[in-house]
Amino acid sequence: MSYLSIRDLDLNGKRLFIRVDFNVPLQKNERGEMEITSDKRIKASLPTIQHALEHGAGVILASHLGRPKGKPNPEMSLKPAAVRLAELLGRPVKMAPDCVGPEVEAMKPAPGEVLLLENLRFHAEEEKNDAEFARQLAALCDLYVNDAFGSAHRAHASTEGMIRFVPKAAAGLLMEAELKYLGMATTNPARPCVAILGGAKVSDKIEVIQNLGKVVDKLLIGGAMAYTFLKAQGLPTGKSLVEDDKVELAGNLLKELGGKLMLPVDHVVVSEIAAGAANEVVEAIPADKIAVDIGPRTIAAYAEVIASCKTVIWNGPMGIFEKPPFDKGTVALASAVAGSGAISVVGGGDSEKAIKAAGVTSKITHVSTGGGASLEFLAGIALPGVKALG
Ligand code: 3PG
Repeated sequence: MSYLSIRDLDLNGKRLFIRVDFNVPLQKNERGEMEITSDKRIKASLPTIQHALEHGAGVILASHLGRPKGKPNPEMSLKPAAVRLAELLGRPVKMAPDCVGPEVEAMKPAPGEVLLLENLRFHAEEEKNDAEFARQLAALCDLYVNDAFGSAHRAHASTEGMIRFVPKAAAGLLMEAELKYLGMATTNPARPCVAILGGAKVSDKIEVIQNLGKVVDKLLIGGAMAYTFLKAQGLPTGKSLVEDDKVELAGNLLKELGGKLMLPVDHVVVSEIAAGAANEVVEAIPADKIAVDIGPRTIAAYAEVIASCKTVIWNGPMGIFEKPPFDKGTVALASAVAGSGAISVVGGGDSEKAIKAAGVTSKITHVSTGGGASLEFLAGIALPGVKALG
């Protein structure tokens, strides 16, 4: 699909609206203030914002944060993001009291200035993709850029609707990078190409398995969803998490994908799920045990495949990652991916955490900022926020 890039726009003296994804995790500190616990998404938007400022634009930034259900909610204000962004940019960031209305219109930024609008979802019209609201957002600017890959699977006023009211729309640098790496990995990968898919449920990943199954040379399955596949093969799963209503589907996927799909051959099992619980490695899961991670033979087999590949796509953990030591399989695969020298594209919060825990983030080619958006992309679904740019 072809679309304009921010680099194609003449930004000098223009007011540029950049839809960013500042949907960052927040927690209340002891003083009762909301604090950002990861500024990754803010940092990821910096190249686009800096490009706009260097090319003479006045920058209006807009984002959602959380799910405030169409009403103002001080705990979901973007104010902490404005403070962090100002620190990162090393220049002031003005915070608007709202995202539309006369007060905001009066704050329109001059070239070199940055204005962050208040949470778009404080207005129900944002998620309803209301045309009048979209028109009001568009009226704030001369040009539009979408850099919010993480929200590109939402057809909302700021990601989709307002594009028809702006003279020109383009992709930001982050959006471009996401589309480049995810696109290459899923349509034209350097071969051999492997996908590692984990997570709890087959039902969450059916479309991803089907879509990637058409492209990749091998598909390595881990996490609890592996046990639904094992059950479909008639193997024992003990008390492990199995989606009984998806066993037949898992059986069909196994037939469809033949030898491409690899399943764990050994498992770390426990009697009860708790961090540090007594555990053992087994090949057949006993009736009274719960599998919580892939075992060492599986790690070795998966690592061997990864080492032979030129492209690796990874989404989802191999075990109950948040309860050590059941993060071992996931962290070991993170090291295998980093050591493979392959082009590596990683999406999903837990795989990203594993990469951090293994200390290999800098060796990964592209870590997606999208959760739901990257999953839909991997499933081959056209993202409305991207489609609208075309
Ligand atoms: C995300 O965090 O996945 C995006 O910001 C989208 O958020 P949403 O799921 O609330 O639309």
